[in-house]
Amino acid sequence: MNVLLTGAAGLVGRPAYDLLSVNHNVTALDVRSVDGVADAVLADVLDFEALVEVVEGHDAVVNTIMAPNPSYADGGPGFTINVVGLQNLLEAARLVGVSRFVHTSSGAVHGGYSQDTRYTHDLYPLKAPSGYCMSKLLQEELARNYHEQHGMSIACIRPWSIIDAERMVTTDGEPVTSFSWGTIDCLDVASSLVCALEAPDIDYDCFYVMAADEAYECTDVARTELLLNWHPERRFDEKGVV
Ligand SMILES: NC(=O)c1ccc[n+]([C@@H]2O[C@H](COP(=O)([O-])OP(=O)(O)OC[C@H]3O[C@@H](n4cnc5c(N)ncnc54)[C@H](O)[C@@H]3O)[C@@H](O)[C@H]2O)c1
Repeated sequence: MNVLLTGAAGLVGRPAYDLLSVNHNVTALDVRSVDGVADAVLADVLDFEALVEVVEGHDAVVNTIMAPNPSYADGGPGFTINVVGLQNLLEAARLVGVSRFVHTSSGAVHGGYSQDTRYTHDLYPLKAPSGYCMSKLLQEELARNYHEQHGMSIACIRPWSIIDAERMVTTDGEPVTSFSWGTIDCLDVASSLVCALEAPDIDYDCFYVMAADEAYECTDVARTELLLNWHPERRFDEKGVV
């Protein structure tokens, strides 16, 4: 497939570029340069006209864009980048007629539920307290609506707390100081995006991706493994890599 990967310079996007490239022709897009990908498209997801031009010719879009963490507070641009940015991508994909859209969502869409909740693909309504969580909630509602109104095949991947287990840093480049049932390595999130892209028969579906034993009780990650034929290679407990 010809695949447009957005957010390709990021913690998840960069390994996703390598994994997707094994079986697909991948165009990388980001607002900043992508390490080792000289022909990456430099574009802002808020530039709708540029997006339509870039999406043309692609069969699928895999989205990993996220506005930087400090940009959600005090009226910053983070909320707009996430929400309007995804709307732009979905609309460009609809105009071009892509056959599969894979979106990196988050367990944050359920961040408003109490902690003893069992988080599942179909726990609805989504509940998010504020800021970043609310932007992820609205992203999923946009995606759901694009499926319902336009029949677009859309898979949403829901990680919780992504780290680079090789370098033991977070998205912000900070050292990892603790581990939880939501911890997952960026390579395993990337591989779940590939599985979601290649899975047959997806109408609209959401998939928790987790990598600690406890997560199999707190979420329905076992369903993800079954339906997407995906398994995390790096497992964690509260002390670190198992
Ligand atoms: N990092 C986590 O702990 C975590 C947890 C759950 C879900 N997620 C989700 O996973 C996805 C990937 O997160 P990540 O950790 O790789 O983030 P990241 O910040 O490492 O990567 C995001 C990329 O998006 C790009 N980007 C930002 N604004 C843009 C714009 N206006 N136009 C084009 N590109 C733009 C950035 O340059 C960056 O390369 C996001 O959807 C995020 O919400 C992340």
